[in-house]
Amino acid sequence: MNRDLFRCIKGNYIYKSISPLEPGRPLVALTFDDGPTRRYTPQILDILDAHNSVGTFFVLGSLAVNQGDILARMSEGGHQIGIHSYDHVSLIDLSDAELYHELISTQEIIEEFTGEPAQIMRPTYGFVDSSLLSRAPLPIILWSVDTLDWESQNSNLIYNSILDTVKDGDIVLMHDIFESTVEAIRLAVPALINKGFQLVTVSELAQYRGVSLEPGKIYSRFPPPETP
Ligand code: NI
Repeated sequence: MNRDLFRCIKGNYIYKSISPLEPGRPLVALTFDDGPTRRYTPQILDILDAHNSVGTFFVLGSLAVNQGDILARMSEGGHQIGIHSYDHVSLIDLSDAELYHELISTQEIIEEFTGEPAQIMRPTYGFVDSSLLSRAPLPIILWSVDTLDWESQNSNLIYNSILDTVKDGDIVLMHDIFESTVEAIRLAVPALINKGFQLVTVSELAQYRGVSLEPGKIYSRFPPPETP
């Protein structure tokens, strides 16, 4: 690991100031799975940073292990990192040893590069069963807006899937492995802000809505109290 590179990257972003949340304005958590990728993840971070916004990245340990500088940049920029898995296998029907490998090896990589363990996880494919729920060491974060970006890989469709449906407290699912997702975000982030949304991490969203996240429980959105 190149410590000098780390310091340089941290120096560029450590002074970024995140605006305090304004009460009454709607909140949304943009989430990105299956990265980090050298090609796309930094572009998404650039877009979020330029708009003083943050996102949540559910990473693969197998990719993160070689992208420590990107993890460090996420952490220093106020973005949140969650565990997706080590190599994108389904987390159901795994032995204890297999599940341990998928989660703990990824956690160790995140902790090595950011100094902090991940606080949340998102199982691959959103697959959850009772065995995983009982063994999951972290809160399980799913989503309430599915952009289907992996399926369409069309930036207009991805943009519309966000802007047409997003509500206060939603969690939006995307993947930081497609050019079309980057292009959609380039327009969607300022458009969301123009609509009054504040872009926050999953944990910020939960905290702001008074929800204490618990291991082995599933969360897909955090609506305001008055919303059914
Ligand atoms: Ni995935």
